[in-house]
Amino acid sequence: MDSSAPLNRRTLLNHSVLTAGAAAGSIAALTGCSPQQGAPAAAQMPSAVPSGGGTPVRVGRLADLAVGATGSAKANNKNIVLYRPDETSVLAYSAVCTHAGCTVAAAGKKFDCPCHGSSFEAADGTVITGPAQRPLVPLQAAIDGDWITVSL
Ligand code: FES
Repeated sequence: MDSSAPLNRRTLLNHSVLTAGAAAGSIAALTGCSPQQGAPAAAQMPSAVPSGGGTPVRVGRLADLAVGATGSAKANNKNIVLYRPDETSVLAYSAVCTHAGCTVAAAGKKFDCPCHGSSFEAADGTVITGPAQRPLVPLQAAIDGDWITVSL
């Protein structure tokens, strides 16, 4: 799996990587791993109130995350994943898998973990497929003009 192969804008409809601090929001491709099918969905709490409250950090340009797309970014050296459900909002989560701490990657309208196959809903971070049993940790995200910001 190569997570650093560059893609042109046209191929980024569902997989965008946004890099904080890059002058033009550099983008690279992500490839998701296939989740293990048939694993029982774990009972879980609904997504918690987004954590954060710190200083908003620009994680990428809004134009680089199409409506309906997921992506990955770094903010203050932390890996995060993003989902843009509509024109006016962006959701962000810690990319740390709640099973054993690997980094999840954008995969369509979900986030997949390459280590043991857990998969999480982009819309709320809940577990689709285990072994993870807890949702991804939500972060406070916002749209600030042309930018996506995340408060850490
Ligand atoms: Fe993600 Fe195990 S660390 S599934």
